[in-house]
Amino acid sequence: MIKLLGISGSLRKASFNKALLHAALELPLADVRFTAGTIEGIPLYNADIEREGVPAPVQLLKDQIAAADGVILFTPEYNNSMPGVFKNAIDWASSSMTGAPNVFAGRAFALAGTSPSPFGTLLSQNAWLPVFRTLGADLWSGKRLMLPKAGALFDRDGKLVDEDARGRLKAFVEAFAAYVAKTKGL
Ligand code: FNR
Repeated sequence: MIKLLGISGSLRKASFNKALLHAALELPLADVRFTAGTIEGIPLYNADIEREGVPAPVQLLKDQIAAADGVILFTPEYNNSMPGVFKNAIDWASSSMTGAPNVFAGRAFALAGTSPSPFGTLLSQNAWLPVFRTLGADLWSGKRLMLPKAGALFDRDGKLVDEDARGRLKAFVEAFAAYVAKTKGL
């Protein structure tokens, strides 16, 4: 059984990226346990806070990552880059000040995202590349999932209704799961 984790980089309730993550969680996938992690409740990074103890929402995220064979980031795009709240969460999870092991090193990660613009998080995904290289993650580049014009892809309840997008999401997650299974010998 392959354990996949999906993390949305948006805090808002009606987030398109949260909705995309939920669509991924509902995919019928053989031999995959796909769960959601969260960046909710993570404070702004401050080394003084960390010295006093890793905040519970940060530890939860780190534990969720550590328990996964592969992780998919569903990233929004702000100002042609990743949102600060998402980068902040990854910075917290990556800090080794307390001597905790690096939960990113060697772990398979994939990037996906959707935005109302015609480029569908292209620049945000590009902005993540040096971050994951720095962390020593095994960043999978076998497929790309950038879904533009998000407003037309979901219904009012946040269900992914666009058939093409549903097909691309399924192909993306299946290919990532196959990669994770192969590299982990599962
Ligand atoms: C945006 N948005 C945006 N979209 C995009 O494709 N490229 C961009 O550079 C930006 N820049 C940007 C800056 C700021 C400050 C905000 C608040 C928004 C729009 C963004 O994609 C849109 O709000 C999405 O709906 C955000 O993702 P979620 O929350 O729906 O997942």
